Amino acid sequence: MSVDEFTVTPWSVEGDVDYEKLIQKFGTEKISPELQKKIEKITGELHPMLKLEYFFSHRDLDKVLTEYEKGNKFYLYTGRGPSGLIHMGHLLPWIFTKYLQDKFDVNLIFQITDDEKFLYSDEKSFDDISKYTKENILDIIAVGFDPKKTKILIDTKDIKKIYPISLEIAKRITYSTVKAAFGFQNSTNIGMIGFPPIQAAPCFLPSVLEGKPTPVLIPAAIDQDPYWRVTRDIAEKMGYPKPAQIHSKFLPGLGMKGKMSSSIPETAIFTTDSEEIIDKKISNSFTGGQPTVELQRKLGANFNICPVFWYLRYFFESEKESDERARKCKGGELLCGECKCDLKDATKPFIREFKKKREKAKDQVEKFLFE
Ligand code: TRP
Repeated sequence: MSVDEFTVTPWSVEGDVDYEKLIQKFGTEKISPELQKKIEKITGELHPMLKLEYFFSHRDLDKVLTEYEKGNKFYLYTGRGPSGLIHMGHLLPWIFTKYLQDKFDVNLIFQITDDEKFLYSDEKSFDDISKYTKENILDIIAVGFDPKKTKILIDTKDIKKIYPISLEIAKRITYSTVKAAFGFQNSTNIGMIGFPPIQAAPCFLPSVLEGKPTPVLIPAAIDQDPYWRVTRDIAEKMGYPKPAQIHSKFLPGLGMKGKMSSSIPETAIFTTDSEEIIDKKISNSFTGGQPTVELQRKLGANFNICPVFWYLRYFFESEKESDERARKCKGGELLCGECKCDLKDATKPFIREFKKKREKAKDQVEKFLFE
């Protein structure tokens, strides 16, 4: 681990992430109160994920909004590496992306990097990855994106759409640049080393589709930033606008530290989990509580490090309700068992509903695919 006690790359997040430091390290900008207001002016309300600073950092978001106000619409671009099933941590940025699509009434390109996940994984076959591609697409559709304004781009299937752009990009990026940005090593397979232009290409695809320079806004967790950094450096030389970003934090897993991860399934709630499993995972969750009830009553607990608290806050509670919970937690009025019960009661109907939408999505897949 680095001297900072945490590392963030597109393929792994370790340690206790200090988001302020990350802004400095990556050279992004914090979403200021003024910028929040500017968004609010257009959308008519401040989305809780902005207010709670779940989306906390950006590049050129202000520029994209200014252009939008002049009548120059942007495209949204986001994506998914199909390395496993979808858990609640994945849904947050997608829910926010749908909100942006609805409010700004804009097109969305959703890339599935099946190539990336095949290249990255030591054990998964291409068939395994393809199975996850199919499953993940159901989750994406279930979030409720507008089928008339959304295209899902599967890299290995739709490569023709992006290959010419990605070649233009690849020619302009050196090995030393990607090595520094992504931390590639001599032992990294050359597929991975050659992959970044494939994820960069959809940044410019809207300009190609529209036949004129078209701004792109990428909502994504901040671990994807290295891709955009190298893409931004070459965009203008290629005659395209620099892609703008709005970065989210990571949803904590139900374990102690780090983002919710499919590689530690006990600490992630999947959209396909049964109610028994959800109960069990939440019962076993880490919390910010004291070792005994007596101590908790006396000393209070720490909601800041408690995933149960953050799940309730991000998914299910108003700011007011959540602040009240924080107060009671700190004061020892509330025990962890009660919060876990509240989270179970909220999560089960949420997943039940989501599963219904996922079932319905099975008949809609065609509408979302490129051709
Ligand atoms: N690399 C991302 C992942 O592993 C998938 C992805 C492709 C993506 N394009 C994107 C994510 C654009 C966010 C925005 O999940």
